Amino acid sequence: MTIDLLSFVRGCTFDDFLFTPQYSVVERRDPARIELGCRLSTNIRLARPIVSANMDSVTRAEMAIVQAEEGGIGIIDRGFRDGDIEPQVREVGTVKRTQHGVIADPHTIAPEASLQRAVSAMHESGVGTLIVVDPQRRLLGLLSERDARFVRPDATVAERMTPASDLIVHIGEVSSADAEALMVRHKIKKLPLVDADGLLLGLITAKDILKQRKQPFATRDQYGRLRVGAAIGARGDFLERAAELIKADVDVIVIDIAHGHSVVMERALKEFRRKFGDVELIAGNVATAQGARFLLERGVNGIKVGIGPGGGCTTRISTSFGVPQVQALVECRHAIGADSPVSLIADGGIHRDGALVQALMFGGDCVMLGSAFAGTLESPGEVVQKPVLLAESRKPVQVPFKVLRGMASLGAIKDRLDVEDADLQALGAEGTEVSVPVQGSARAILQEMTRHLCSAISYGGGRSLDELRQMFRDRPERYLVKLSQSAGRESYER
Ligand code: XMP
Repeated sequence: MTIDLLSFVRGCTFDDFLFTPQYSVVERRDPARIELGCRLSTNIRLARPIVSANMDSVTRAEMAIVQAEEGGIGIIDRGFRDGDIEPQVREVGTVKRTQHGVIADPHTIAPEASLQRAVSAMHESGVGTLIVVDPQRRLLGLLSERDARFVRPDATVAERMTPASDLIVHIGEVSSADAEALMVRHKIKKLPLVDADGLLLGLITAKDILKQRKQPFATRDQYGRLRVGAAIGARGDFLERAAELIKADVDVIVIDIAHGHSVVMERALKEFRRKFGDVELIAGNVATAQGARFLLERGVNGIKVGIGPGGGCTTRISTSFGVPQVQALVECRHAIGADSPVSLIADGGIHRDGALVQALMFGGDCVMLGSAFAGTLESPGEVVQKPVLLAESRKPVQVPFKVLRGMASLGAIKDRLDVEDADLQALGAEGTEVSVPVQGSARAILQEMTRHLCSAISYGGGRSLDELRQMFRDRPERYLVKLSQSAGRESYER
């Protein structure tokens, strides 16, 4: 029997299906061995198919760092006031400075500076070693914290530095592996890179190399820095915001509006491409074949799919418009083709780990999650204590909560637009605000999701995520079980 997948999933979402278990070929469900790589967008790959949502109660720098370290990526929200661009750029900068392969712009000092000046420079920058350079940026030496200890503060840097002639330096670029070998051989922790004329090219530190080794799946750019994305709107300051984010080396821009299949988006894409050429760009949200094709034809690198499935979202309740998320994913995938270089990001509605593999099999290259990371250590926002009644003793206890709010909720709009309460009602909110109990680190959640994904691949008979997807595409009827109401309760209600 073959099925027409589009008709089969019409009107359905994640909880309407189970997948039939297949003969398993996986020896160990080990995330370090099972290939989970995917496309975030045409030119960016992720080792884990997970993206944290651009919501102001979910992704700022702290969240984006954990996501990238664990192999996914975070998209910094645009929940800053119109024209107030610097705070978002700062979040991007924080992520980009967390790890380096080569530090292209290390902190430097002049040889004639006093040690007192050098010590304050170390304190201000938080680094323990300064590179001593002349005005042409020729490498003269290294000065470490130790060199400045117990010495007259008016002594000069030149008097105490280790001169370049005594340093191990490398001429030209070097791979991480070769830099590590040099550091081991010479027992050094810092390796300056210079060009043939002795001009400083950068610095490699043992700390960064160790970090890279400890996090083999991390999402990094060509310079070894963590990758991060940032969202913009489709009007107002969006082009100016994009320009500043690009200057800060953001890896991907996301034009995120509630209804991406629109004249507003059409204009925004045209202006964006005219101004920024082929900068990596994801756009959304859409939920139909026409919507996906519309974005594809306008040259985006990734398409965000989901109208109304999100946890903090009330669009469907207030407008009765939207598409059940599985139907939306299958339709959009069908519209753009199985092997399109443009990705589909399944955005919203994934509220149990099992739905993640469903989103990936039904058409998503990767998934975007909001509520799943709400209330974690890394999500932004104040912790507030609220009394909760214990069921057994009926006694109140103080429980810490954080707020999760939809980006179209009254609170988020108010913060973003700086409007009076009276004007707010006129804007028409399409999001809610809820308190969620504080949980631990998002890192633990990500690792657990990854383990569950590996288990799902094993149940599905694949060796890798890609293979499982291919097997599903070839014969979806092998997998799909549409659930009755009671089977749905048996499966997903606990
Ligand atoms: P989850 O289900 O993971 O979904 O929390 C996250 C996605 O929800 C969307 N989102 C909204 N949609 N009104 C909406 O219509 C809102 O206020 C809102 N806030 C977030 C968004 O796509 C996000 O990635």
